[in-house]
Amino acid sequence: MRLVLGIESSCDETAAAIIEDGCRLRANIIASQIETHKPFGGVVPEIASREHLIKIVEVVKQACEKAQVELSDIDGIAVTYGPGLIGSLLVGICYAKSLSYVLNKPLVGINHLEGHIYSVVFENPPIEYPALAMVVSGGHTSIYLIPEAEKYKLIGHTRDDAAGEAYDKVAKLLGLGYPGGPVIDRLARIGNREAAPLVFSLPRMEDDRYAFSFSGLKTAVLRYVKEQAIKPLTTGLQPTEQVCNLAASFQHAAVHSLIVPLRKAVTDFQPKTIILSGGVACNSALRVAAKSLSEKINTPLYYPSPILTTDNGAMIAAAGYPKLLRGERANLDLTATSSLKLQNLDLPLEDKPKGKVRYRLS
Ligand code: KG4
Ligand code: ZN
Repeated sequence: MRLVLGIESSCDETAAAIIEDGCRLRANIIASQIETHKPFGGVVPEIASREHLIKIVEVVKQACEKAQVELSDIDGIAVTYGPGLIGSLLVGICYAKSLSYVLNKPLVGINHLEGHIYSVVFENPPIEYPALAMVVSGGHTSIYLIPEAEKYKLIGHTRDDAAGEAYDKVAKLLGLGYPGGPVIDRLARIGNREAAPLVFSLPRMEDDRYAFSFSGLKTAVLRYVKEQAIKPLTTGLQPTEQVCNLAASFQHAAVHSLIVPLRKAVTDFQPKTIILSGGVACNSALRVAAKSLSEKINTPLYYPSPILTTDNGAMIAAAGYPKLLRGERANLDLTATSSLKLQNLDLPLEDKPKGKVRYRLS
């Protein structure tokens, strides 16, 4: 098993990659649909699946050309089968199954979230276990404990919106366009958060130490916008200083909301590696905060470069590699599971006095 083709189509990126020996990137082609969905302020599922249909063949062809391989040189195929938009997932799955059948190559189905965790393998030393992974994207905000490779326990997740979703909704409110994360991140860097104070406090979730919540923050932004009578930005105009200040204030609070549960989790579990992945892992302030946490506790932090934080086929191929290597196979009845969970470990967490939690590997 040397060359793996990874196919990803769970949301609005049609992506294919070819990797070598599990961690060397030979080609990573991503056809983004952002421009198509922009006028609607978010992804329109029906349009997304139709776009995948149009692009998938060309994207795989380009991946082969870039990697200078023929499809027949591929040793195995990995494809995302959930979670995601059902119609979008089906396009990637059907194409991957057809290739597997016609070329007689082994196929595995991959959980998109496991893919995001594997996105760090290309640019970092090998992951040391136990690891803790925070996956922050447009649809998910979760922390996983990974005692050994491919074993996952979900220890914390969002009670309401995902972090990326909060960025996208705030951007929509301010008329900043879709997706909201990159533009708010850019404006936040020039804004002064102290000039736009948001009244917001982190929800207390004593029974759920590593949970996230963004609804209070979103309401605080909405209240501020109403009080200050801020109008959504008209196309073609530059955001005002007030909007930049609000972006800075929102970003500061959002990053704080992410870092607090992460800090508790790394303190409690003392992992050997911290992984930060998913679209929001691109955020400049989040990277700085996570880096400073990792330095403080002397534990390496791995995150991917921007092109690998967004949805891509390389991370799917990387997650597929160990599975293909040990002979795991998907049949031709592989199908999409839109709300697929990433959890395959029933690990009891022992509550210790002083709030410390330990895990048992028995
Ligand atoms: O992982 P991803 O590409 O797709 C999903 O699986 O959801 O993540 C997309 C999300 C969007 O919500 C987008 O606004 C957010 O990632 N995002 C960011 C940044 N870049 C992308 N959020 C905050 N700061 C960024 N720089
Ligand atoms: Zn994703």
